[in-house]
This record gives sequence, C-alpha cells and structure tokens, in this order.
Amino acid sequence: MMKACVTILLCIVVGTSARYPCPPECECGELGPHGIACGGEDMTHFPKNIPPNAVYLDVEGTKITTIPKGVFNKLHHLIGLILDQNQISTIEPGAFQGLTNMSLLSLSTNPGLSLTKVDPLILKDIQNLTRFLAQNNKLITIPTKFFSENKNLREVDLQNAGLLELQPGCFSNLKNLFIVDLSKNQIDKIGANVFTGSSNFQTLLLSNSQVKSIEPRAFETQEEMLFLMIDHNMLVSVRSALLGLKNLLTLALNDNKIVSLNEDDFKDLVMLNSLDLSNNELMDTGNALANLRSLGSLNLNNNRLTKLSFQGMPLLTDISVSNNLLQSIPERLDVITHARILDISNNPIQSLPGGRFASLNSLLKLDISNISVIQDGGLAPDALTGLHSLVELRVENNELNKVPSQALSAVKQIQILSLSHNKIETLDENDFVSVSNVSNLQLANNMLAKVPEKALRPFTNLTQLDLSGNPLVHISDWSFGNSTTLSSLRLSNAKLSVIDPAAFHDLKGVHSIDVTNNNLTWLPGDLLKYDRAFPFYLYADQGNPWYCDCQMKPFSEAVNVPGQSVITNIHCSGPEKYKGQNLGDIPLANLTCDCEHQEAPSVDTSGSDNSTAVGQPAKLRCKVGGCPTAHLFWTTPRGFVISPHLTEYTGYDVQDDGTLVIMATVAEDAGNYTCTAANYLGKAEQSHKLKLDIIET
Ligand SMILES: *[C@@H]1O[C@H](CO)[C@@H](O)[C@H](O)[C@H]1NC(C)=O
Ligand SMILES: *[C@@H]1O[C@H](CO)[C@@H](O)[C@H](O)[C@H]1NC(C)=O
Ligand SMILES: *[C@@H]1O[C@H](CO)[C@@H](O)[C@H](O)[C@H]1NC(C)=O
Ligand SMILES: *[C@@H]1O[C@H](CO)[C@@H](O)[C@H](O)[C@H]1NC(C)=O
Ligand SMILES: *[C@@H]1O[C@H](CO)[C@@H](O)[C@H](O)[C@H]1NC(C)=O
Ligand SMILES: *[C@@H]1O[C@H](CO)[C@@H](O)[C@H](O)[C@H]1NC(C)=O
Ligand SMILES: *[C@@H]1O[C@H](CO)[C@@H](O)[C@H](O)[C@H]1NC(C)=O
Ligand SMILES: *[C@@H]1O[C@H](CO)[C@@H](O)[C@H](O)[C@H]1NC(C)=O
Ligand SMILES: *[C@@H]1O[C@H](CO)[C@@H](O)[C@H](O)[C@H]1NC(C)=O
Ligand SMILES: *[C@@H]1O[C@H](CO)[C@@H](O)[C@H](O)[C@H]1NC(C)=O
Repeated sequence: MMKACVTILLCIVVGTSARYPCPPECECGELGPHGIACGGEDMTHFPKNIPPNAVYLDVEGTKITTIPKGVFNKLHHLIGLILDQNQISTIEPGAFQGLTNMSLLSLSTNPGLSLTKVDPLILKDIQNLTRFLAQNNKLITIPTKFFSENKNLREVDLQNAGLLELQPGCFSNLKNLFIVDLSKNQIDKIGANVFTGSSNFQTLLLSNSQVKSIEPRAFETQEEMLFLMIDHNMLVSVRSALLGLKNLLTLALNDNKIVSLNEDDFKDLVMLNSLDLSNNELMDTGNALANLRSLGSLNLNNNRLTKLSFQGMPLLTDISVSNNLLQSIPERLDVITHARILDISNNPIQSLPGGRFASLNSLLKLDISNISVIQDGGLAPDALTGLHSLVELRVENNELNKVPSQALSAVKQIQILSLSHNKIETLDENDFVSVSNVSNLQLANNMLAKVPEKALRPFTNLTQLDLSGNPLVHISDWSFGNSTTLSSLRLSNAKLSVIDPAAFHDLKGVHSIDVTNNNLTWLPGDLLKYDRAFPFYLYADQGNPWYCDCQMKPFSEAVNVPGQSVITNIHCSGPEKYKGQNLGDIPLANLTCDCEHQEAPSVDTSGSDNSTAVGQPAKLRCKVGGCPTAHLFWTTPRGFVISPHLTEYTGYDVQDDGTLVIMATVAEDAGNYTCTAANYLGKAEQSHKLKLDIIET
C-alpha cells in the first residue's frame, strides 16, 4: 500500500521528464508543463530528441541557420513554435511537416530570412496556423500563395520585416484574418488585388512604410474593417482608395504628403469616428469632409489650410487645426454644438469678434495660443462669452503683457489656465479674481521678476503653479503668501541665485518644488526648518553650480536629520576636490570656506551716478564685502531684478564688480536702485537714487 502511494507521487511530480528526458541544451517545463525552451549562442542545430509531448517549443538566440525538412514531425502536440533571434535563412520544403495542429509560428529577428528564397507554400502544412509573427527580418516580399492554405489565420505581424512589396492576392480570401501589421516596411505601392477577395480584417496597420500610391478600390471588399492606419507614408492623394470601407471607425492618414482631397474620397466612410490628417500639405479640404456624419475627432494640425468648414459633421467633438494658415475663426461654429475640444492655435487669425464662440456651450478645452489677433491687441473683453462649460484655456505664445482679466470673467469656472510664453512682467492683485477656481496655473516663460504673491491670493484651490523660465533671480521670504493648497511648484530655468531662508515656509501642502537649471550655489539651512506633515521633493540637482563649502553646511546638516522635510539629492560642482560628489557623502567638517573672518555681506553704492540725462548712460556701483563671497543683484525702479550677466533686459547689465550699467536711460529709469547681496550668514542692501534730467529738444 505504502509503496503504491510513493510510486504514484513520483509519477505526478516527475511527469513528462520521467517518460521523455529533457535534451541537455533545453529547459523543460519553462513554458508551462509541456513547454520547452532551448537556446545558447553555440547551438547550430535543433536539439535531437525533443520530447514528443511538447506543446510549446522556443528555440531562441542560437546560430541555427536552417530549418531542415521534417525536423519537428514528431511533435504532434505542438501549439506554438517560437524561433526568434536566430540566424535562420533557409527553410527547407517540408520543414513544418507534422505541425497540423499548431497555431502560433514566430520567426522574428532572423536577419537573413527572405521569402524570395523560401518555398512559397512553406506554411501549407500548418493548417491550423492562427498567428504568424515575423518582425525584424528582410522578407522582401510576400508571395501570392504564401498564406493561401492558412484559412484559420487571424493575426499576421510583419512589422519592420524588410518588405518591399506585397504580391497580388497575398492577403486574399483569408476569412478569419483579423489584424495585419505591415508597419515599418519599405512597401511603396498597394496594388489593387493585394487585399481583395472575401477577407474580413478588422485592423490593418500600414504605418511608416513609404507608400506612395494605393490603387483605386484597393480595400473595397474589406467591409468589416474598423481600423486603418496609413500614417507616415508618402501619399500625395487617396483618390478612390478608400471606397467600400463602410464600417471603418478610425482612419490615420497623418504624416503623408497629401496636397488635396476629392469630394468623393471619403464618401463611403459613413461610420468613421476618428480621422487624422495632420502633417500633410492640404490647402483646402474642399467638400471631402462633408459626408462624415459620424465623425467625432478630426485632426488637421500642420497643414496649409486657409479655410475650413465643419458643415456635414454634426457629431464632431474633438477638433484640432493647429499650425495652419487660417486667417479667421472657421465659419458656422453653430454646426458643432457637441464640440468638447477646439484647438485653433498657431494660425494667423486676424480677428476674434466678440461672442464668436458663443454657440460652443459644451466646449471643455479651447486653445488660442499664438494667433495673430491676440499678439497685436490682446483678448477682447467679450471674446470668450458663451463658453459656459470651459475647463481649460490656453493662450500661450501671444506676447500678452498683461492678463486679459476682463475676457476671463466670461469663463469663471475654468480650472486650467495657461498664459505661458507671453511677455507678462507684473501681475495685478485683481488679475485672477474672476477665475479663482483655477487649480493649474501656467505662467512659464514670461518676464516676471518676482513671485506674483498678491495675484495668487484669490485662488482657493491652486494646486499646480508653473513659473519656470521667468527671470526670477531672488525668491524672498514668504513669497507665496497663503498658497496652502499648492502641491507642485515649478521654478526651473528661472535664473535663481538667492533663495531666502523662509521662502517656502508657507507652502504647507507642497509635494514638489523644482529649482533645476538655475544659478544656485547654496541653499539656506533654515529652508527646511518648519513644521510639515510630510516631506516634499526638492528637484535641484540638475543644472545648478552647487558649491560644497561652508555655505552648504547648514543645509547639509538639516537634510541629514531623520524626519526632515525635504527629499533631495545634490551633487557638487565645486570646489574641485568635491566635484561630482554627493553633498550627503561629504563630512560636515569638510564643508569649509577659505575666509579669515566669516561675516555677512556689506554693500556700498557710493561712486554711483547721481543723475544723468534721458538717453544717456548711467552707472551704479555696488561694492560688496563679507566672506564667503556674496551673490548680488540690483532691483531697478522699473521692477527689474538683475544679477551679473543676466541677459533678459537689453541695455541693462551687471558687471562682475557689481556695477549696473544702463546703456541709454529712459524716463522710467529715474528713482531708487537697490543693490542686495546675500551669503549664508545674511543679507545686506543699499539704495541709491538716480535723477534723470529730461532734455527738451
Ligand atoms: C490535432 O488535434 C486533433 C484534436 O485535438 C487530434 O484529434 C489530432 O490527432 C491532432 N493531429 C495531430 C497530427 O496530432
Ligand atoms: C484545427 O482547426 C480546426 C478548424 O478550425 C479545429 O476544428 C481544430 O480544433 C483545430 N485543432 C486544434 C488542435 O486546435
Ligand atoms: C506661431 O504660428 C505661426 C503660424 O501662424 C508659426 O509659423 C510659428 O512658428 C508659431 N510660433 C510659435 C512660437 O509656435
Ligand atoms: C468654484 O468651485 C466651487 C466648488 O467646486 C463651486 O461651488 C463654484 O460654483 C465654482 N465657481 C465657479 C465660478 O464655477
Ligand atoms: C481642486 O483642484 C483639484 C484638481 O487639482 C480638483 O480635483 C478638485 O475638485 C478641486 N476642488 C474644488 C473644491 O474645486
Ligand atoms: C491667509 O489667509 C487668511 C484667510 O484668508 C488670512 O486671515 C490670513 O491673514 C492670511 N495669512 C497670510 C500670511 O497672508
Ligand atoms: C575630509 O577631510 C579630511 C581631512 O582633510 C580628508 O582626509 C578626507 O578625505 C575628507 N573627506 C572627503 C570625503 O573628502
Ligand atoms: C553723488 O552725490 C554724493 C553726495 O552728494 C557725492 O558724494 C557723490 O560724489 C556723487 N556721485 C557722483 C558720481 O558724482
Ligand atoms: C551665476 O552667478 C555667478 C555669480 O553671481 C555669476 O558670475 C554668473 O555670471 C551667473 N551665471 C548666470 C548664467 O547667470
Ligand atoms: C527712494 O528712497 C528714499 C529714501 O529711502 C525715499 O524717501 C523715497 O521715497 C524713495 N523713492 C521712491 C520713488 O521709492
């Protein structure tokens, strides 16, 4: 009794390998109970004695060049055969004999494999083939009869397979074919009879394949096709090529060279939901789009359209016409009452009459970045009226020098507002009062010289603030007022050289602050000394000349305390002996400065010009004392904050010795100039008044 039990247990545990030993170059059981994986760079032939009960066989990464006749003919149970990443170039006739029940054959990445050298009926033995995968090869062609016996074929993946052509009939009459991926090949022409017959694909991918022409009615019998991608090819037109695709849902024709469309080009595409024609050379869509009654999403970005009509597309929801030559807002926006997204950015639109968007009361997102009318004159007070559902407004790249606050009062409910890439120098306390629900405010790449604390006060739920790319030399204590909801703050690429000790202390909810790509050499230790429930990430390492001397000691000390409020990672740019080292790896005692007496800075503006005439130059001196050497910056009556070599303000330059040189003064330059200097021990400033004599001419 005992003995029987033991025998049975052994039989179960050892399973197949007891009956059929595993070949030494293989691992059995790798791919499920009857799966066998073989490989090894030295292997030049298929292993002998592969267990005949194998269900999956994977022979990968070998030097095998040939699949000999009948090599698998004892493997009656094989369902999947994977022969990827070998050197196979020869497949002998009869190589797949006996694999009648197999459903998957993968021959990917066999760089020498060409179907010109293989028996065109090589797959006829694999009657039950459903998936044929052969990516990354040099197949050259698909012979006419290649798949003709594989009536069960469902998926063909020939991405990057080195195909130069498709022979007529090679995909004909394959009733079960569902998805064919022919992208990333060098096929230049789709002939009339490649896809004909009664095949019924759902998806055909022909992206990135150098197709220059498609013969008329090439897909006519593919009534079941839902997705057709012919993007990134070289088509100049699609004349009659798409006829018959009555059920097509998605059509990608982007990134071709299509110059014009015919009225009938899309006439059968009555179900089409998404059409991408971006990155072509269209000057006009004519009436080609007017039949697309189901169309929801239309992308026409990067063409040369001078006009556009949405007539005949009542269901449009997402519309992108960025980067065209539209001189006016498309007419009759009242036809697209369901529109949710409208992007008309980067067009030379000359006028934006009030109430023009009034019919778009479902619109969620509007992008009017870089349109000529705003560049010239700002946004008219009634430009946005009627946009009752708008959530996101983008008005970037428009040379705005102030916030179009009156226009914004029509879209009080918005949550995302981008005014990046404008010329805004200052913000007013009332600029955002009407849009106080904004949670994501983007003010990147403007000319803001200070954090606009007062302008931020109205926000009740500001969570993301982007001030990157502004000339913010100095962040003073308590710059962010009451912004306790702020979670993410971006201050990268902002010319920062001095951050005051309490600069971030009021940001109780912040998760991340980005100060990468500035001119920071040290940070005050007190930056971290305040109560917070959780630490924040300080992204600081990249693009700052961190100098690991005594100035970084308090910060390093504070960061290395368990439970501190910052997570950061700073590598030193200097001094030479610590270049490239992690600040945290340098003992505190080694963070020293070469000063006889360390002291907070002093500033002396004596010797500065007291007066000059409008149009004449002026020099304001600032002699800085103290050790270690302090960073200095000037604040001018025009609100500029200028540090040495800052190039943002043409005609204003701070030299290495601290002197501010104004090349030719203007009337607004009269007033108090303040020179501020800061090192880790403190800050000093002195003001100097410049008088300007206005010379009447
Ligand atoms: C193919 O599968 C069927 C059904 O599972 C089986 O009856 C037949 O013997 C198999 N053919 C071969 C050659 O193994
Ligand atoms: C082979 O294909 C036929 C027809 O589709 C099917 O009935 C049979 O079950 C398949 N055999 C196996 C083992 O999948
Ligand atoms: C603004 O739009 C014009 C086309 O009207 C385009 O040529 C230009 O590159 C765009 N500018 C930016 C900064 O995107
Ligand atoms: C701002 O948000 C609050 C809370 O979600 C909401 O009650 C209020 O109506 C919103 N204000 C506007 C002008 O949409
Ligand atoms: C605050 O903004 C977040 C998005 O940042 C949003 O999910 C949330 O609903 C907003 N809360 C209120 C009260 O509007
Ligand atoms: C923060 O806001 C509250 C309420 O709006 C106000 O009472 C308080 O004075 C503000 N604190 C600061 C530092 O601005
Ligand atoms: C710190 O300074 C000591 C003494 O000058 C030196 O021996 C040591 O290598 C330094 N440590 C590092 C990490 O540079
Ligand atoms: C500016 O005025 C001060 C005080 O009157 C004087 O000492 C100084 O020399 C003047 N500076 C210049 C450059 O003339
Ligand atoms: C960075 O700051 C140093 C010291 O103030 C200055 O010499 C240098 O020109 C600044 N560099 C830039 C790019 O602002
Ligand atoms: C300039 O500074 C002086 C002295 O600090 C002050 O009295 C004067 O009001 C200031 N002028 C301006 C325009 O700020």
